[in-house]
Amino acid sequence: MVTIVVGGQWGDEGKGKIVSYLCLKDKPDIIARAGVGPNAGHTVKHREKKYALRLTPSGFLYDKARLLIGAGVLVNPHVILGEISALGIEKRLGIDKRCGIIEEHHISYDKKSKHLSGKIGSTGTGCGPANIDRANRTLKQAQDVAGLEPYLADVPLEVNEALKKGKKVLIEGSQGFGLSLFYGTYPFVTSKDTSAGMAAVDVGVGPRKVKDVIVAFKSYPSRVGEGPFPTEMSPEEAESLGIAEYGTVTGRKRRAGAFDYDQARYSAMVNSASQIALTCIDYLDRDSKGAREYGELSPNAKAFIEGVERKVGVPVTLVSTGPEMSETIDLREEKL
Ligand code: GTP
Ligand code: IMP
Ligand code: MG
Repeated sequence: MVTIVVGGQWGDEGKGKIVSYLCLKDKPDIIARAGVGPNAGHTVKHREKKYALRLTPSGFLYDKARLLIGAGVLVNPHVILGEISALGIEKRLGIDKRCGIIEEHHISYDKKSKHLSGKIGSTGTGCGPANIDRANRTLKQAQDVAGLEPYLADVPLEVNEALKKGKKVLIEGSQGFGLSLFYGTYPFVTSKDTSAGMAAVDVGVGPRKVKDVIVAFKSYPSRVGEGPFPTEMSPEEAESLGIAEYGTVTGRKRRAGAFDYDQARYSAMVNSASQIALTCIDYLDRDSKGAREYGELSPNAKAFIEGVERKVGVPVTLVSTGPEMSETIDLREEKL
């Protein structure tokens, strides 16, 4: 059984938090990272500890799971080797042998390019240039890098064998729908599609194997980098609402805006969402911070959640009321 979690807006919806909650709760046998590469920064907060993960699957706190990085994901060897030793996941992590490799020259090109860094506002992590080389068929693969040898894996084979045995697999995307190379606000997008279909491809799972697609939306979406944001508010308004955020990878200030129902509907459609995870409900009103039961939410928060469900036409099954793993309302039993 496969569940995919992807972002429905411009990334940073809190996928890291949602995925880590789901993994501790549902105990998947395999947690596989899909998505673009180390341009992502997933924040996981648990018991006073905070992790900022760029390539490691966010569910790593569930320590019985095998952790995999799919072939579609770009790997920066320094980043992943650093995370492996910092998190002590040497024995559990597998990197598909065909993952594309980001090298120093990709990073310097990304940072120096007026087009990428200037016009698009890229993260400067080398992902765009590495995907250019991948399309050109000159990019190195993980199997060409000596330091990655102990971790090389055949991810599709492992995942599909596990599925045959009835095991649970959770696939985690990165970025968000609005940053999709195909469906986002082109050209102000990342270097690859970011929808659930792509996440399945990244890991080597066919469409018939996917049971659930959980799309994460933030109550006040954010965007880093350039590009249109139809519901954007001024930085002053974001400050006064207390919702100003800074990027996990780049430290850049995130632009903030109101919930965009049209974007959410379109994103749910292309992703074939079966569930919505709604994050940062505490941004709506502080009374809802830390709630763990639906009944603890303010009338305002409840009305917002019910409105999203009605207007997008997909059940809201997970409600996040704070960055901590425990600050979650899980409605799956009653709604599914
Ligand atoms: P990308 O893959 O880079 O798109 O990131 P992401 O979706 O994993 O999100 P990221 O961790 O970059 O940003 C989300 C931020 O919101 C982090 O600082 C989280 O700790 C925080 N966060 C997650 N859920 C909630 C929530 O319900 N309330 C509040 N206040 N913060 C939250
Ligand atoms: P790139 O993926 O580094 O090429 O950046 C392209 C665009 O996607 C820029 O607007 C980035 O800010 C945005 N972007 C890339 N990764 C993330 C992410 O993980 N969270 C939010 N925005 C991102
Ligand atoms: Mg992020």
